[in-house]
Amino acid sequence: MSRRKVAVIGSGNVGATTAQLIVQKGLADCVMIDIIEGMPQGKALDLSQSTPLEGADVRVEGSNDFARMEGCDIVVITAGLARTPGMSREDLAAKNNQIVRGVAQKIKQVAPRSIVIVVSNPLDIMTSIVWRETSRDDRRVMGMAGVLDSARFRFFIAQKLGVSVKEVSAMVLGGHGDLMVPLERFATVSGIPIHSFLSPKEIAPLIERTRDGGAEVVKLLKQGSAFYAPAASVAIMVESILKDEKQLLPCCVRVNGEYGLKDVFCGVPVILGREGVERIVELDLTQEELAALHKSAESVRKGMLQLK
Ligand code: NAI
Ligand code: 2OP
Repeated sequence: MSRRKVAVIGSGNVGATTAQLIVQKGLADCVMIDIIEGMPQGKALDLSQSTPLEGADVRVEGSNDFARMEGCDIVVITAGLARTPGMSREDLAAKNNQIVRGVAQKIKQVAPRSIVIVVSNPLDIMTSIVWRETSRDDRRVMGMAGVLDSARFRFFIAQKLGVSVKEVSAMVLGGHGDLMVPLERFATVSGIPIHSFLSPKEIAPLIERTRDGGAEVVKLLKQGSAFYAPAASVAIMVESILKDEKQLLPCCVRVNGEYGLKDVFCGVPVILGREGVERIVELDLTQEELAALHKSAESVRKGMLQLK
C-alpha cells in the first residue's frame, strides 16, 4: 500500500499547527508549502526532528515548489492573510481571492485527484472559488469552519456546566460568519439536551460567544487569528477521510437541493470518508432554524456577488 500524503499550503500559524497534528497523530506524510523561502523547509526540518519523540514514522518535507503536491491524497489550503483587529473575514476576500485562486489552479495541474480542504477566509467564498477552479466535484472540495465553530460552542457549554468537554456534543451550521447557526436544540451532554440543564437565558450568551469566537481571539492576540482550535478541526477532518471513519461533521460544501438551498456553499452536516463528502445529512430543522440557515447562506451568496 502506498503511503498517505497530505499537502498543507501555507506554513503559517494554522498550516504549521495542522502539519504538527498530522505528524503527531501519525496520519500521513506531510508536505508543507509556502511562498516564503526557507520557512516551510525550516519548519519541516524541525517537525521531522520531533518524530522520534512522538514515535511517528511519517516523513515531513518543506518546499516552495507546488509540484511537491503531486500524489497527495489531501491538500489543505491555509494560504493567505489572517484577520487583524477590526478586520472582518469579508475584508480578506479580495486579497485571499487572488492567492487561493492561484493555489487552486496549481492543485488542478499537479494533484487533480486530491481531496481539498479549504481553510483560508472568508471560508465559504474561498471554498466556492476552489470548487470552481478545480474539479467541480462536490465530494472532493470542502471547507473547514463548522467543526471549529461547533468546538467553540461545545467548549462554552462544558465550561458553563462544569462538565467534561468529551461529553458535550453540538453542531453549528451555516456560513462561517456572524450569521452562523448554532443549533442549541441538538446540543447535548451525554445525550441529554442542554435544555435540561440551562435556561434559554443562560444559553443565549454561549451562542453569542460562539458567533464572536474568532473575533474574541483576534482581539486578544492583536495580530493574527486563532490557530490551535482551527488546526485541530482540520486534523479531525483529515483523520476521518484518511481512516474512512465516516464521522458526521459540519463542513462547508456545495449545497444543491438539500435544505431547500440551491448551488451555494455553506456549512451543513456531512459524512466524511475515503471519498470525501460521502453525503449531506438533512436534519429535520424547525422553520426558525431553516430560516436562519437560509439567511446565512444568502449572505455567502451576496459575498460571492460582491467579489465578482
Ligand atoms: P498566517 O499569516 O500565519 O499564515 C499564512 C501563510 O500563507 C503565510 O506563511 C504566507 O506566507 C502564506 N502564503 C501567502 N500566500 C501564499 C501562496 N500563494 N502560496 C502559499 N502560501 C502562501 O495565517 P494563519 O493564521 O495561518 O491563517 C491562514 C488563513 O486561514 C487566513 O485566511 C485565516 O483567516 C484563515 N483561518 C480560517 C479559519 C476557519 O475557521 N476557516 C480559522 C483560522 C484561520
Ligand atoms: C476564526 O474563526 C479566523 O475565522 C477564523 O478564528
